[in-house]
Amino acid sequence: MLESGATRLRLLREEDVPALAACLAAGATGPYYPGDFESVQELKTRFATDGFWSERDGRLLIENLEGRMVGWIFHFRNHPFMDSRELAYFVFDPAMRNRGHATAALRLLTSHLFNTLPVHRLELTIATENESSLRVAEKVGYRREGILRQAWYSPALGRRLDGCRYALLRGE
Ligand SMILES: CC(C)(COP(=O)(O)OP(=O)(O)OC[C@H]1O[C@@H](n2cnc3c(N)ncnc32)[C@H](O)[C@@H]1OP(=O)(O)O)[C@@H](O)C(=O)NCCC(=O)NCCS
Repeated sequence: MLESGATRLRLLREEDVPALAACLAAGATGPYYPGDFESVQELKTRFATDGFWSERDGRLLIENLEGRMVGWIFHFRNHPFMDSRELAYFVFDPAMRNRGHATAALRLLTSHLFNTLPVHRLELTIATENESSLRVAEKVGYRREGILRQAWYSPALGRRLDGCRYALLRGE
């Protein structure tokens, strides 16, 4: 378990899966996330495989100190030979946003990955119009590197989005 201020990160438990699936089905990951939402069965299968955590691809639950599920944060290997990982974060309930949870979660997972894996770069890809996520990246110290033009299609918005690439190097 990782904790900072009012935010805690922990491994998922099997009993989290129904509530998590309900959040995803309700569109809680927002219009900028290109991934399909995962069904209860898909989430259960992933849980049974590795508990949602491996060196290549891990997901942690973000919760507040009362133990309420606030969101989740990922890391995943995004290139076959680079020693980097990409991260992505989600705060499901709009009423829980702007309280610092994503910033704390990104700080915690960033430190944890640099402390436990032989990675040199941690990366983020954020839609250029996703102002709150751009702000989170900058608060944690990630640096803007460039634009990935028309990088993915948003079904919710019905158009392709430009992505802003951010990275933080070990030692920065
Ligand atoms: C992006 C997201 C994770 C941010 O979570 P959060 O817990 O609200 O983030 P924080 O509270 O740590 O920080 C948000 C910051 O953005 C700022 N912000 C919010 N809306 C903003 C806007 N429209 N323009 C500029 N800044 C904005 C807040 O003021 C805050 O900055 P501050 O601390 O300097 O005041 C959340 O909005 C979310 O889950 N969105 C949908 C999923 C998503 O887009 N994920 C990112 C994928 S890369």
